[in-house]
Amino acid sequence: MNANYIFSLIAVIVLFLLAYLGTEAAGLHVLFGVVIPYTAGIIFVAGFIRKIMNWAYSPVPFSIPSTCGQQKSLPWITPAEIDNPFTKKGVIVRMALEVLFFRSLFRNFRFELKDGSKLSYIWEKWLWLAALAFHWAFLAVVIRHLRFFTEPVPFFVRAVEYLDSFFRVEVVNTVVQIGLPGIFISGIVLLAAVIYLFLRRVFIPQVNYISLASDYFPLFLIMGICISGILMRYFLKTDIVSVKAFTMGLVTFRPAIPQGVGSVFYVHLFFVSVLLAYFPFSKLMHLGGIFMSPTRNLTADTRARRHVNPWNYPVHVHTYQEYEDDFREKMIEAGLPVEKVQ
Ligand code: HEM
Repeated sequence: MNANYIFSLIAVIVLFLLAYLGTEAAGLHVLFGVVIPYTAGIIFVAGFIRKIMNWAYSPVPFSIPSTCGQQKSLPWITPAEIDNPFTKKGVIVRMALEVLFFRSLFRNFRFELKDGSKLSYIWEKWLWLAALAFHWAFLAVVIRHLRFFTEPVPFFVRAVEYLDSFFRVEVVNTVVQIGLPGIFISGIVLLAAVIYLFLRRVFIPQVNYISLASDYFPLFLIMGICISGILMRYFLKTDIVSVKAFTMGLVTFRPAIPQGVGSVFYVHLFFVSVLLAYFPFSKLMHLGGIFMSPTRNLTADTRARRHVNPWNYPVHVHTYQEYEDDFREKMIEAGLPVEKVQ
């Protein structure tokens, strides 16, 4: 039993109640619609930059790229150019494959003892697939949301919208119809993937054992964002024109509280604000951290080039020759061997 997810679930429920009651009962629309989103935005940007600067200024005393193949050595031995990148180009290709397709996760295996004694390797394809679905869907949703913050709406936002509603499935009077505009696949995939990632932490004992409240909290928060978004889009039919007027007000620093936008919108916005403010202090910073990781951004050329710690400062050394020069006479008097007599 891992109580950590209960803490995180309670935290997200409390956040929901704060935003819902805060706007519905207490009428704090300016707080939840303007003050909190701006504050969260500032914390996100400042916190993100601070963290990256901190990593950028940390010394890298050793060359420690993680490798997984033959290093470049003799001309007749074929090197693994991507898995053991000798050049910056190799590093970039490996990094791109990692960031875009989670290549190392794709090659991840877990071990299991079958029939008590047989060691078997099991390909962890579901984790890879869910992680990939989660991140790509998240990106698609965020790009689509740019529609609210731009006028005119850029072409790539329209392109993502078009591709995302490719199947054009709509539920009309409980009958699923294909061919009508309506459902955005990415929103549904995002919710499904985040639920899978949560259930995996609950039901796989080894994963459950190492899961902390900080692993569950962002999952619940993103679940909350998706559920409130889906509610607004498919069930409550929130007034998008008012929302757009409001979001354009926010980005042009002329905020105005919209009329007729229900509390679920404020819950959605509050969850997003909390996610933004929490981001720089959490494991979510792997978004920026992967690029700063010496195990991934260094070239594996340790046999060919000497890695000098760029933060090395000049150290005053007292060589043996200088030592002998200082103490030669005393050494000779004491009968100690010297390299130079005079
Ligand atoms: C981390 C950022 C966000 C995520 C992951 C997210 C997620 C979602 C999802 C999954 C939906 C369901 C429909 C769909 O797939 O598009 C949705 C709808 C919606 N979201 Fe967000 N959202 C985010 C940020 C925001 C922000 C900042 C605003 C406005 C200030 C916003 C306003 C809305 C509105 C108005 C809808 C209903 C859209 C419609 O009816 O077409 N969202 N969101």
